[in-house]
Amino acid sequence: MAKNILVTGGAGYIGSHTVLQLLLGGFKAVVIDNLDNSSDIAIKRVAELAGEFGKNLSFHQIDLRDKASLEKLFSSTNFDAVIHFAGLKAVGESVQKPLLYYNNNIIGTINLLEVMASYGCKKLVFSSSATVYGWPKEVPCTEEFPLSATNPYGRTKLFIEEICRDIYRSDSEWSIILLRYFNPVGAHPSGYIGEDPRGIPNNLMPFVQQVAVGRRPALTVFGSDYSTKDGTGVRDYIHVVDLSDGHIAALQKLFESKIGCEVYNLGTGKGTSVLEMVAAFEKASGQKIPLVMAARRPGDVETLYALTDKAENELKWKAKYGIDEMCRDQWSWASKNPYGYGSADSTN
Ligand code: NAD
Ligand code: UFG
Repeated sequence: MAKNILVTGGAGYIGSHTVLQLLLGGFKAVVIDNLDNSSDIAIKRVAELAGEFGKNLSFHQIDLRDKASLEKLFSSTNFDAVIHFAGLKAVGESVQKPLLYYNNNIIGTINLLEVMASYGCKKLVFSSSATVYGWPKEVPCTEEFPLSATNPYGRTKLFIEEICRDIYRSDSEWSIILLRYFNPVGAHPSGYIGEDPRGIPNNLMPFVQQVAVGRRPALTVFGSDYSTKDGTGVRDYIHVVDLSDGHIAALQKLFESKIGCEVYNLGTGKGTSVLEMVAAFEKASGQKIPLVMAARRPGDVETLYALTDKAENELKWKAKYGIDEMCRDQWSWASKNPYGYGSADSTN
């Protein structure tokens, strides 16, 4: 019998790619999403890309804060596990609107956990973030590093991690994997699904891609005076398809062994600077990306990359793709869909 997986936030960037890998891996997937930061076109395209497995996908437009709708869904469907992506993720916005972030991310998660518990579904994979390492004393980051947060978004990740550790301590029937993502980029190699942020992109690669298709004049580089190889910030970029496969590996772990509440870094273990990433994108796309050098962005850390040994050893998962493939697939998506899932007049 195919396992049935509930995917919250499954219409979003990482969620849509993971749902595709789930379907191709023989799972059934039920997606819930309020479409606040996504489009149902992504769900339709995932079903198409999955071919004959597309029939194993269903979608419900539900907000996690609407507990009655969650209860209704759980009362009509048995889930073997939940992958929980749904949440707001813009760091700057979280500073301006902390209550919105605490309400959406924390209350949404508590509702989900309560409904899961009351229907006896106690296997969870949660999207945490490398942001919980704050500005680390050294790199690479291991899972044992001290945790901190510098903004309300990061604090929601930290609090939800702690909530998960507490519920496992209170009830050992729970099996929970917290995945700390580093910097997901790229798109499915088909170029048919990808990242489509609303408004002005906060993150590097969505911004670069909008410059490449002529939607923005230049990339502003935040900081060129860091103590790094070329003065710009260094991050651990990971191909979104590798990241998605990390979720399948995590699910398999949940089904195969009694895991408790465990945390894994998902990254490549390699640090790449902003200028290196731009150069790789220019090579992959043949497009020139004009740069404007500017001051550091408040809250940014200098260098962040992962030690990935724990996921390699325990989940038997390792990222396969490098930055050239990430940029190739980012460009494939951008060039075929310059306005994402929308059109020139529906997007800013
Ligand atoms: P995304 O915005 O593309 O996807 C999140 C989805 O959740 C969206 O489709 C949104 O509409 C939905 N959503 C938000 N609040 C909801 C609610 N209350 N009820 C139902 N649906 C809701 O973001 P993403 O990049 O795919 O990120 C997925 C998860 O991974 C998030 O939790 C994010 O914080 C985490 N994460 C992302 C990154 C990154 O760089 N993209 C890094 C680390 C962690
Ligand atoms: N950058 C620019 N110009 C831009 C955007 C980014 O120079 O327009 C630089 C940043 O200063 C940083 C690097 O590109 O040096 C990466 O920045 P991103 O915004 O793409 O990613 P961050 O590492 O700042 O943050 C991301 C997610 C967070 C998550 C974190 C985990 O946005 O949600 O990764 O590492 F918590």
